Amino acid sequence: MRNKVTIVGAGNVGATTAQRIHQLGYADVVIVDVVEDLPQGKALDMLESGPVIGSDALVTGSNGYEESANSDIVVITAGIARGPGMSRDDLLLTNMKITSAVTEQVVKYSPNCIIIAVTNPLDAMLQNIYEKSGFPRNRVFGMAGVLDTSRFRTFIAQELDVSVEDVQAYVLGGHGDDMVPLVRYTTVGGIPITELMDDDQIQKLVIRARQGGGEIVALLKQGSAYYAPSASITQMVESVLLDKKRILPACAYLEGEYGITGLCVGVPVKLGANGVEQVIEINLTEEERGALQNSADSVKELIDVMAKGGS
Ligand code: APR
Repeated sequence: MRNKVTIVGAGNVGATTAQRIHQLGYADVVIVDVVEDLPQGKALDMLESGPVIGSDALVTGSNGYEESANSDIVVITAGIARGPGMSRDDLLLTNMKITSAVTEQVVKYSPNCIIIAVTNPLDAMLQNIYEKSGFPRNRVFGMAGVLDTSRFRTFIAQELDVSVEDVQAYVLGGHGDDMVPLVRYTTVGGIPITELMDDDQIQKLVIRARQGGGEIVALLKQGSAYYAPSASITQMVESVLLDKKRILPACAYLEGEYGITGLCVGVPVKLGANGVEQVIEINLTEEERGALQNSADSVKELIDVMAKGGS
């Protein structure tokens, strides 16, 4: 029997993720959305690509959660983007309500699943989903770091004219402008980038990676990135389904690691069949630790707004 992965939200990120997972061929995919017929239409279209791409996996669309029952993994992308006249806090509270309602259904129909949160603002949404789910922390984590790192790796590979595969990097902290790319741990074919680029070059790439999401939004004019986000989600899904135990940056609920307790922040983790099997603690300099704390403080501010504005 194939594994089952549910994607909640049939928008750009959700549908592209569903397509990538279907193409892998070893998991059936269920797409859930509130818009009538939309998930059914996208699912059928994907299913009909099966003979061409050689995937026997099933893709089903639904406006409810019955079809999603007993999923191994549920990816939550449901939410709205910020519209004209909406403040960041409005977005926060609207997506908090959406992710709360979604989590309730996910827990009801798939009590043993692993949840991967994607809806923005990611760190705050993960905190909400983690608390609402009542799941242990290893089964609820968020996608941001793989994407932020992938952007950073892309820019480094372009700058040095080397294969993207040879660039390894880590990004810590929240999924925002104050994320912390770890330059000291960034290597190209095992060589620290500090050996290959000067400080100015590195800082330019760090800034571009930090603002990577905004760069895409500005170009698209409508909506936000989804090709690199869906690839990043798929890598995390694969690490869990195949128990690969990859070491990837993910947003996780910290219980004292890095001196942070009770907050969801981006850190390196080991991802396997049990979800987050280990939070990996690496030595940080005073400056890196300060930047991580700064990022954690920004997440805390959003959580305080949710506590006041939501019920
Ligand atoms: N249940 C299920 N689906 C919902 C719900 C809900 N309660 N509320 C909204 N949705 C659906 C919308 O109908 C829409 O199809 O979520 C989908 C969101 O899709 P898009 O607007 O295309 O947004 P997308 O680009 O996919 O981004 C989704 O991921 O990366 C983040 O910042 C991004 O928070 C955003 C999320």
